[in-house]
Amino acid sequence: MQEAGQGRVYISEVVARDGFQNEAVFVPTVDKIALIDALAGSGVARIEATAFVSPKAVPNMRDAAQVMGAINRAPGVVYSALVPNLRGAVAALEAGADELNLVFSASDSHNLANVRMTSTDSLRAFEEIFALGQAWSKPVAVTIATAFGCPFEGRVDAQRVLDFFARCVAMGASAMALADTTGIGNPAQVERLAGAALALSPTTPLGLHFHNTRGMGLANVLAAYKAGARRFDASLGGIGGCPFAPGATGNICTEDTVHMFEEMGVFTGVDLPLLVALSRRLPGLIGHDTPGQVAKAGRSCDLHPAPTR
Ligand code: COA
Ligand code: ZN
Repeated sequence: MQEAGQGRVYISEVVARDGFQNEAVFVPTVDKIALIDALAGSGVARIEATAFVSPKAVPNMRDAAQVMGAINRAPGVVYSALVPNLRGAVAALEAGADELNLVFSASDSHNLANVRMTSTDSLRAFEEIFALGQAWSKPVAVTIATAFGCPFEGRVDAQRVLDFFARCVAMGASAMALADTTGIGNPAQVERLAGAALALSPTTPLGLHFHNTRGMGLANVLAAYKAGARRFDASLGGIGGCPFAPGATGNICTEDTVHMFEEMGVFTGVDLPLLVALSRRLPGLIGHDTPGQVAKAGRSCDLHPAPTR
């Protein structure tokens, strides 16, 4: 177990994918590109720029190739694409993705709702995608959704998640992420599962993808951090959610997460004032307020004038 105040964490910004996929409005392609380019200057390590999925399933991601093709490439930033199947993998590589992020769910019922396959069928299809990644010399990461619980099945057996995790590592996953699709996981569970995943494959970078659906988002980040995890997905403004998970709500908020770590003395490499400024522009893009808190309250260190009497 590592103490708070040491080391650094890496932030993966998912607003352009998870954030926008579930919005009622289609954020214009030029605005997505401008936002991604601005975020690239904030110091985030990775940007999940879009998803190469069926435009019928997720209409908001129908401009995936245009977005991936037009964004600037800031040095040191990994531009990743979410991919559910071989067709998406080919399209993402052709469009210039630095990394494929394969997604499947640990629970069959959510995987069927999301990508119309069982979990095992997804994994079988991934074999060909790993070979494709090798042929293109591009890293292929895997995100396991519903790793902490499923909106249809409830509890998801931790051993089932770890077995899937081990299979993905054996197939050649460059990195792994455990996703709490609908904010079901609690900090004790997160510390156990993140710790077990790190013990299973200490050399595989482990990311955590939390949603704040039940208010446990940042507590779960801290629990995973205590278990040794150093990579976190987060969405500007705390927007987002899976369109195929009932009751889904936003990701943990990037600026709130960065603020928490920086206040704790954990280096994030991220320019918080820039994130806050970008977050304050989000309502203009999506037409409503966002759940993020630091963009409204300011940082803990932002002082207010004391009353004069
Ligand atoms: N990108 C774009 N289009 C795709 C595609 C991809 N990766 N994969 C399939 N399609 C198209 C097919 O060509 C077909 O188009 P058509 O109806 O015009 O012929 C249509 O989508 C259905 O194809 P099929 O292979 O039968 O897929 P499906 O209907 O079984 O759906 C997925 C499977 C994976 C394509 C679909 O469920 C999906 O895109 N899910 C993504 C869910 C998601 O993004 N969730 C949020 C993030 S976790
Ligand atoms: Zn998500």
